[in-house]
Amino acid sequence: MNLKAVRWGIGGVSSRLFGCLLIILTVNFTPRAEDDTNRVAEAYHAFQDGKCQSCHPAIWREWEDSMHAKAWVDEIYQAAAQQVPDRETKCDQCHAPQPILITGIAEMPKLRDRQREAGVSCLVCHLDAKGAMNGPAASAETYFHENVTNPIYTPPTTLCATCHGQQSVPEHDQVSSFRDSEFADSSSCATCHMPIVERLQSTTSHESIKGRKHTWRGSRSVTQLKRAANLQLEYTSGKVDVKIRSRTGHILPGGVLRIIVVEVTLLTPDGTERQKQHISISAENENRLLPSENRVYTFDTASAATADTIRVRLIYQLTPDTPEPKRILMAEKTHIVP
Ligand code: HEC
Ligand code: HEC
Ligand code: HEC
Ligand code: HEC
Ligand code: HEC
Repeated sequence: MNLKAVRWGIGGVSSRLFGCLLIILTVNFTPRAEDDTNRVAEAYHAFQDGKCQSCHPAIWREWEDSMHAKAWVDEIYQAAAQQVPDRETKCDQCHAPQPILITGIAEMPKLRDRQREAGVSCLVCHLDAKGAMNGPAASAETYFHENVTNPIYTPPTTLCATCHGQQSVPEHDQVSSFRDSEFADSSSCATCHMPIVERLQSTTSHESIKGRKHTWRGSRSVTQLKRAANLQLEYTSGKVDVKIRSRTGHILPGGVLRIIVVEVTLLTPDGTERQKQHISISAENENRLLPSENRVYTFDTASAATADTIRVRLIYQLTPDTPEPKRILMAEKTHIVP
């Protein structure tokens, strides 16, 4: 049942006198499209008034802490968008979009005229043009909104591609490299970014069922970054081979602002730095890693002496300006020179 139907039910007693007339009026004069528009508007109100939060508290908490909730208020985004003169047509439509089931899966999203600060909100991924909530199969009825089972959620890669795989916006494309990879055979975007969890989907559900966490941990998660790539070090006198294997489901790093620094340091037995070298992997350098790619970088370590330590690190920077204390150590390997 939907919001509008609930209202009718409540008003039912007093309007019974006019029952006949009302039915004729409803059938003949109320266009369906207007009903749907009202239900969509009600959903926006419900979102704003904390109704989604009150019935789906666990999912809300996860979303609230995610970058989807912050897609508009994110300072890095706002700073970048401010430099674009026609940001309203070039940028904002994905950072504060209208519901994509309404504007079209795989179509370029359209900018919302309200609630922009809610970024990629619940409604953006779940609300359809009739005011219903689409999702994987639900286990319980809800009097508050209609549930529609829609295969687009399982797996959701096509849904994600609406923003993360637009051909005309290659800067934000994680989907193409995923689809060309072996990961596409056995996994989806949800496998690594929406872990499975068993719980009550809402406070009015009767049984726990399998769902997925709405956390979308990515480049701000140390856990994600530590499993993004394998690192190996092979020393042969005078040089060291640094072997990197990407374990990320798409191009690595996934975003165009990010930098992975491959750092090789020679340390004397007392820990003093003898020599430091590095290579950066980034979109700017056009050397990002493809999924499952193996890459070898050879560094000259001729100045190393016996008992020196060779230390290799992968270090992650969110932006070129990220200060040293905020950089994240993804992996480290050491070798003592014989
Ligand atoms: C097709 C949808 C789309 C459009 C259009 C779009 N973005 Fe984004 N934006 C995304 C997605 C998806 C991400 C997250 C994935 C990524 O970083 O590639 C993102 C992330 C970002 C980030 C990274 C924020 C962070 O976490 O550090 C910045 C900055 C950004 N966008 C700026 C812009 C600017 C500036 C424009 C306009 C020139 C723009 N975006 C247009 C979808 C879009
Ligand atoms: C009165 C409580 C209530 C409110 C308010 C409510 N929901 Fe729900 N919702 C439910 C119940 C119950 C289910 C079914 C849960 C289950 O299957 O266990 C559900 C299911 C869903 C689903 C899954 C649908 C499917 O078919 O898989 C989505 C998505 C959803 N709600 C989103 C929202 C959003 C967004 C809002 C705010 C606009 C909202 N809900 C408000 C009770 C509520
Ligand atoms: C309506 C557009 C849209 C859709 C659909 C969408 N995203 Fe996003 N996503 C964004 C934007 C915009 C950002 C960037 C937010 C920012 O950093 O400012 C983002 C950020 C992310 C991040 C980065 C988080 C971080 O901390 O770096 C991940 C991971 C992510 N999305 C995964 C997904 C997955 C998986 C799906 C499909 C289930 C999906 N997204 C669907 C727009 C979208
Ligand atoms: C970026 C898109 C996106 C956003 C934003 C989003 N969801 Fe979802 N949601 C999904 C996907 C994908 C699934 C399917 C997960 C699965 O396979 O179980 C899902 C599933 C659900 C379900 C079914 C139960 C479950 O855990 O799978 C409910 C209920 C739900 N979402 C509610 C919400 C609410 C409430 C919000 C806002 C607080 C929200 N969603 C925001 C993409 C989104
Ligand atoms: C095999 C696991 C895996 C799969 C599958 C996967 N990702 Fe990721 N993703 C990661 C890891 C690890 C990171 C962190 C490293 C990085 O920043 O690229 C990440 C980071 C991201 C980021 C953040 C990029 C940034 O620079 O902020 C976005 C956005 C993202 N993934 C979207 C997606 C989308 C969309 C899909 C589906 C096409 C997907 N991911 C599939 C593992 C995966």
